[in-house]
Amino acid sequence: MARPSVSASVKRVSIEFVSLAAVNGRAAAKNHPDTIVILAGEKGSYGQQTTKLIKSCASAVAKAAAYAKFKGTFGASFDLFAPQGLGADRLLVVGTHQDKPPYNGAPAHDFVGLGGAIMGKLSSSQHAQIVFDADKDIKDIGLHCAELALGCELRAYEFNQYKSKKSDMGKASSPKKIIIASSDPEGARKAYKTHAAISEGVALARTLVNEPPNILTPDEFARRAKALTKLGVEVKVLDVPAMQKLGMGALLGVGQGSAHPSRCVIMRWNGTKASVKPVAFIGKGVTFDTGGISIKPAAGMEDMKGDMAGAACVVGLMHALASRKAKTNVIGAIGLVENMPDGKAQRPGDIVTTLSGQTIEIINTDAEGRLVLADVLWYVQQQYKPSFMINLATLTGAILIALGQEYAGLFSNNDELSSRLTEVGLATGEKVWRMPMGPAFDKMIDSKFADMKNTGGRYGGSITAAQLLQRFVNNVPWAHLDIAGTAMSSPASDINQSWGSGWGVRLLDRLIATYYEK
Ligand code: BES
Ligand code: MN
Ligand code: ZN
Repeated sequence: MARPSVSASVKRVSIEFVSLAAVNGRAAAKNHPDTIVILAGEKGSYGQQTTKLIKSCASAVAKAAAYAKFKGTFGASFDLFAPQGLGADRLLVVGTHQDKPPYNGAPAHDFVGLGGAIMGKLSSSQHAQIVFDADKDIKDIGLHCAELALGCELRAYEFNQYKSKKSDMGKASSPKKIIIASSDPEGARKAYKTHAAISEGVALARTLVNEPPNILTPDEFARRAKALTKLGVEVKVLDVPAMQKLGMGALLGVGQGSAHPSRCVIMRWNGTKASVKPVAFIGKGVTFDTGGISIKPAAGMEDMKGDMAGAACVVGLMHALASRKAKTNVIGAIGLVENMPDGKAQRPGDIVTTLSGQTIEIINTDAEGRLVLADVLWYVQQQYKPSFMINLATLTGAILIALGQEYAGLFSNNDELSSRLTEVGLATGEKVWRMPMGPAFDKMIDSKFADMKNTGGRYGGSITAAQLLQRFVNNVPWAHLDIAGTAMSSPASDINQSWGSGWGVRLLDRLIATYYEK
């Protein structure tokens, strides 16, 4: 089988921004979209250009609106097929009026979500035109048009790499072309540059998570990270001898039972003066987690191909930041290993020496993510003196028990970083919930034989995992995001139909954009 490329599995929609004037008259005639989407404001009101556009079928639209009890509420919609004189096969009317956001801290109007919801209704369209001409009280039209576009693209993502029959593909078939008409096409185009970078970063993260584990081995993962050099990212790959020389005994212990050698990849984006300390993102990249000698049950084990979602997020984020030329210095570091049972595999009872010099007694070989991160966190902190470190990991099943699939677990030694993450989480919809830490939990991983052990017993499983990580961060401001519930096996939503959600790329891009690009 030919090596699949990342881009081949990502369905592209072409997005174009035009002025409102272009929806009426001669310019409109040559566009001939099969579907026209109009946005409505409070009580189902339309802007001037929209009113003109639907003049020929205004009474049918009004009747349909009444029949559907349409009040212009955000996300509500109704349809008309082959309306008289419109010149399109379908008119879709979508509300944008919002009394109050769905939750505290959510954007007043979630146009990314709305774009995704609209895209979801366009499955039989080839070419759609969205006319953004609704509520006068909606500001930042250009930005919102770009958000709509991002939502459309996120919704359209489909991973078809390994379907050999055309008939099995394109289940979510959607328009190849979307035109967005508004009063600020120039602003929309400008904002879209950033949003396209984010959309590509999310798609890349999703694809890495969706890839099967026989294809996406640590080495192949490293190669895909290396492709970021095209965007101006410096990429360094540490192989097993290099990591042995450094003394990464914890990471190497996890990978020693696999036929696929471990890797550690360090990516660097220089977006500002060299004197500015970098921020750092670290990802768990277990390309497959059998549990090792403490082997997992068979049912559902195939899902453990997603145990590299933290690393996937870091690569997707670096892609987004480099491609939109973020004005900040960023380190992305990922520990890539496969956790397999084998004659050479690590045992319960083994004691490994980490890069930091601290020793860890292995109680359960299935608690492997923390071992990988311990060495990468230490390495990043020593080598790059970052202003903060944020690590992402599908670290514990226990976080699913605590928070379900709606929130990622946030563990941190820093209140400011925590509140920033919480805030951008609410704004992007990639929500985090801070969990407690402290000395009483830390004590639970003290070991009889080594400096610490890799599990802390049945209670507070996500917290004791975080406590182990904290022993490798010194006083660097640090946050750990446990994304086992949010990054894989994801429930379908308006903006995501993919098993791997690409969770965290939008969150962390927003964190950087809001606070670290001054
Ligand atoms: N990768 C798993 C955690 C996981 C579980 C991710 C479910 C996604 C979905 C992790 O390596 C693991 O196996 N954790 C163990 C820790 C235990 C042995 C202390 C767990 O959660 O059961
Ligand atoms: Mn495990
Ligand atoms: Zn794991």
